[in-house]
Amino acid sequence: MTEVLVKRLFIKTFGCQMNVHDSERMADVLRPFGYTATDSMDDADLVLLNTCHIREKATEKVYSELGRVKAAKLARDGDAAPMLIAVAGCVAQAEGEEIMRRQPAVDLVVGPQSYHRLPELITRAHRTRGERVAADFEAREKFDSLPAARRVTGVTAFVTVQEGCDRFCTFCVVPYTRGAEFSRPAAAIESEARRLVDGGVREITLLGQNVNAYRDPDGVGLADLIRRLARIPQLTRLRYTTSHPADMDDALIDAHGEVDALMPYLHLPVQSGSDKILRAMNRAHTAESYLRTLERVRQARPDMAISGDFIVGFPGETERDFEATLTLARTVGYASAFSFKYSRRPGTPAAALGAQVDEAVKIERLHRLQALLADQQTAFNKAQAGRSLPVLFEGVGRHAGQIVGRSPYLQAVHCEGPADLVGRIETVTIDSATHNSLAGRREPAFA
Ligand code: 5AD
Ligand code: SF4
Repeated sequence: MTEVLVKRLFIKTFGCQMNVHDSERMADVLRPFGYTATDSMDDADLVLLNTCHIREKATEKVYSELGRVKAAKLARDGDAAPMLIAVAGCVAQAEGEEIMRRQPAVDLVVGPQSYHRLPELITRAHRTRGERVAADFEAREKFDSLPAARRVTGVTAFVTVQEGCDRFCTFCVVPYTRGAEFSRPAAAIESEARRLVDGGVREITLLGQNVNAYRDPDGVGLADLIRRLARIPQLTRLRYTTSHPADMDDALIDAHGEVDALMPYLHLPVQSGSDKILRAMNRAHTAESYLRTLERVRQARPDMAISGDFIVGFPGETERDFEATLTLARTVGYASAFSFKYSRRPGTPAAALGAQVDEAVKIERLHRLQALLADQQTAFNKAQAGRSLPVLFEGVGRHAGQIVGRSPYLQAVHCEGPADLVGRIETVTIDSATHNSLAGRREPAFA
């Protein structure tokens, strides 16, 4: 009998939902090789940092974390089972071997296209400390070789349908770190979705860096994919993220009006309300075309909740440009939104621009924008009071007898109820709302 040694895996994830999802997939890839998750970095055999490169601060956080991991590794020096340190994700993709030059305690670097090669890379690192960088493999190969049977984690799941981005916004590293757009075949996505539903999943969020540019090798677009998935019995809710305004086509908008399972929530980043800045960002839309798109979306689905991303302090942004952003936000009325100070990413076109905005100005603008967006979110939540909403219950709450779910608009909803409602949808009358969540009562079921 061969002995399978149990090895302890510690993963720390930085950044976006895509990375959270990738970390799960890396754990899946490593499981057959004896790796089980541990919460303690100190006694891990493999410490994996899944990194984010989107803003400079995110990158620096990774290096300071690596300093801490190095200390844990040194403490184990002379140990029979030395610690291996791996860096994955977007910093790995962007900086490659440079990471090992800056922090020699790192044993291997693996880019997002090469996670299926982790076991091989680990073995090589152990044996030879030789070839340790694998950052430029085809997305197709990655999709083909990841284990088909993903672990099912609950009522909701994420499924990657698309990776990479061809849009090249001038501030963004994604086209460089995640490579060209690639869409998985619809048939493979459908079988994965069916397996997830068999395991109890009721809501699937389709993930992609530019998800509404999804088009599979047979020409199936995102709207077709959604209609296909909506036919799976018991798959009651579908969402997708993140979209580009210029890729919101009629088919997708129509689907919002026609497909019941498609939830009325759209994350559509705008970045700025000034056409001058949008042009400099190479966004391929104007403030007006963005608003027109939202009008069409709201015609198809009047109760659509809108979410977005904003960047303040892009090079050349004047007070007037920034006010155009505030005006746009006021016009839209966001249900939720993310906003960031512009962060200069080396290698991107915007990093080379003159007229970089002063840090203090960026901070001040960010505060003003965030105050407005926070008010809008609170107002959106409070507007639900008195309404009856279908809530998909996802788990039990912090207090005894409390269960937690989500409204169609992605709001967290708390109410009293038995744990066996998890995975079911019930109508909840909303009594109160805060900035972050709603609370209510389940409606009595009439016979
Ligand atoms: N600086 C600030 N924010 C950025 N984002 C992407 N790149 C940068 C950058 N260089 C933001 C955008 C994007 C979100 C995921 O992160 O708003 O939509
Ligand atoms: Fe980056 Fe999104 Fe622009 Fe693509 S569309 S370059 S991912 S900001």
